[in-house]
Amino acid sequence: MTAARTIPTSDIDLFSDEHLENPYPDYKALRDAGPAVHLSRLDVTALARYKAVREAVDNWETFRSGQGVSLNDLLNKAWTGTVIATDPPYHSALRGVLNERLSPRQVRKMTANIDTRVGAIVSELVERGSFDAMKDCAYRVVPNFVVDVVGFPPEGSGSEHLLGWAEEIFNVNGPADNKRMQESVSGLEKMFEWLATVATKDNVSPGGFAHAIHSAAERGDIKPESVVPLMAGYSIPGTDTTLGIIGNAIALFAQNPDQWNLVRENPDELMRPALVEVLRMDAPVQWFARVLSRDWEADGVTIEEGSRVMLLFGSGNRDERHYPDPDRFDITRDPMDHVSFGGGVHGCPGQHLAQLQANRLLRAFIDQGVTRFEITGDARRSLNNTTRSFFNLPVTVTVA
Ligand code: HEM
Repeated sequence: MTAARTIPTSDIDLFSDEHLENPYPDYKALRDAGPAVHLSRLDVTALARYKAVREAVDNWETFRSGQGVSLNDLLNKAWTGTVIATDPPYHSALRGVLNERLSPRQVRKMTANIDTRVGAIVSELVERGSFDAMKDCAYRVVPNFVVDVVGFPPEGSGSEHLLGWAEEIFNVNGPADNKRMQESVSGLEKMFEWLATVATKDNVSPGGFAHAIHSAAERGDIKPESVVPLMAGYSIPGTDTTLGIIGNAIALFAQNPDQWNLVRENPDELMRPALVEVLRMDAPVQWFARVLSRDWEADGVTIEEGSRVMLLFGSGNRDERHYPDPDRFDITRDPMDHVSFGGGVHGCPGQHLAQLQANRLLRAFIDQGVTRFEITGDARRSLNNTTRSFFNLPVTVTVA
């Protein structure tokens, strides 16, 4: 009989500026420390290896979301009644409201709409030659698109604050004693207040996600108290995260021009796996948490029932035990089993929509003859407690 191993402890700070700037050395240290590591600063357990993260997302019966997926009571309470913080069976009713609209078949129908939005912006930027890939490009595409698809009232109603609120709410996901978390709480309050008072059924567009959510509550498919958190749950995660994949992609292609050459020579086949590799390299959502409903063992280490556990998606994707040479950006790798969208019953329902926006935006640069991106000046990460994205990404483009 093998004796149970004790869980290793680490004092790594997953919310320091230094960590958020470049989390990968800390992640490697956590993976090397063991299959599960107790984080002494937070008094939670971190799963940093791919195998453990994968097992956790695939096992909702043990890894529960119903007590919230953040590190503090405030946000865990605010999310009550939405998909991300509800376990089956009610979770299935909530997912059912928008599942079909976000299916690959339905999302593909939005291609022409996205192409029209990105076409004009990309031609203007290519003409300029130098621009900020975040402020001048991604920020002009994604938030407006999300507002339209969700069907929120247009600019002037408050919906122009969606991106700012989203960034703040992803900060509020962090621990209660964290400064970035505390300074962002007002964003959470303002957004929920706006959803309750402005995004009413009469004010949202009939074809959008928000209207479908109101109608589901009227039919009795979901509880009335789920309407506001569900509208938040389908708008907030669509903004910062999609900006993340776009900025991370442009930065990786600028740093790896040979990989951009491969994609632009064959975009119909290689754009999809290229974006999957971008997602593996830099997970736009770095982690979410769970609470264990029973004891769970990871390779001989037991974590106790009731423990709060962080699933480090950004670390699992770089696990050398699962992906050979994990820090190399290789668009021919096609790592479809990455955990950037989580997995199992809570696997991201917006993944096709996010990838389509990134795909069509990069495709527009190819169609406009861009042979090279180069980062000029200071690229700055947007330091957020949950997401991994850029704040500034100054680039120049070379056109054939
Ligand atoms: C690159 C972009 C995106 C990334 C990286 C991402 C990442 C994730 C991750 C990791 C989860 C799993 C949460 C968990 O297991 O606790 C998730 C869930 C979710 N995402 Fe996304 N997301 C993206 C885009 C979107 C978009 C565009 C939407 C909306 C249309 C969306 C809506 C949601 C919702 C509603 C959930 C909760 C699902 C559930 O709990 O059943 N996401 N996302």
